[in-house]
Amino acid sequence: MNIFAKSNKRLSSFPASTEMAQDVPLPNENLIELRNVIKRYETPGGAYVALKNANLTVKAGEFVAVIGKSGSGKSTLINTVTGIDRPTVGEIYVAGTPVHQLDEGQMAVWRGQQLGIIFQFFQLLPTLTLLENVILPMEFARRSTPAERQARAMELLELVGVANHANKYPTAISGGQQQRVAIARALANDPPVLVADEPTGNLDAKTADAVFGIFEKFAAQGRTILMVTHDNDLASRASRVVLLADGEIAEEVMEYALPSLNQT
Ligand SMILES: Nc1ncnc2c1ncn2[C@@H]1O[C@H](COP(=O)(O)OP(=O)(O)OP(=O)(O)O)[C@@H](O)[C@H]1O
Ligand SMILES: [Mg+2]
Repeated sequence: MNIFAKSNKRLSSFPASTEMAQDVPLPNENLIELRNVIKRYETPGGAYVALKNANLTVKAGEFVAVIGKSGSGKSTLINTVTGIDRPTVGEIYVAGTPVHQLDEGQMAVWRGQQLGIIFQFFQLLPTLTLLENVILPMEFARRSTPAERQARAMELLELVGVANHANKYPTAISGGQQQRVAIARALANDPPVLVADEPTGNLDAKTADAVFGIFEKFAAQGRTILMVTHDNDLASRASRVVLLADGEIAEEVMEYALPSLNQT
């Protein structure tokens, strides 16, 4: 069974219904679009412009790595895409939704249905088991029956290789295992877009490689990924690398330009 297959996206335990069905994005459809995005922070020391007129288009099926020095605006960029941060100026569209126009309530619903978000520090809920952590987004989205949600969560945990720990709490497993659970959680509602901010940043090299491999598998099946990473070796495995420098996007990074970025 291949849960990533676009023609048969859902797990056997999670049958499609009209309510749940999401349109499969067409190849080359613009899934993420930033238009003239400016993010200005007001600080006691004055205004700070973290994103300067950012324009970015990510097409369906692309795996885009965002790189750049510390403070270059990578998280700010990602956070405007997920709606965690609002742009000061500009427009952001994700799968056709004008994210910049959503109010908080709409944003929460939209995020739950359309995005899988993965953070550097996993951010699993400590009072829930791993299985419950993966079930939670499906409960919020009111998808399917409790039994189907549980079965899907188990299948996702199997997919990322931690099903044998399903009933443990996050503190009882390693960081790499927690990140696997976080990926399973991000996939719970079968989102068309995965957004990740340094998902391997807190993992050792071997574990990072394994976790990155899960994203590659996801990308190979035609899903869309926008991922921040400090790791240029991993970034070079994405289908496109976007370089941020002082809040500005310099697209299409050349291979030879990458080594100097290690000096952050
Ligand atoms: N809430 C905030 N208030 C003021 N300035 C901020 C805020 N958030 C970020 N900044 C500033 O905006 C700039 C970009 O920050 P951002 O977190 O996007 O960088 P980054 O590229 O993700 O860095 P890192 O690699 O260290 O995670 C930084 O100079 C940062 O200090
Ligand atoms: Mg950051």
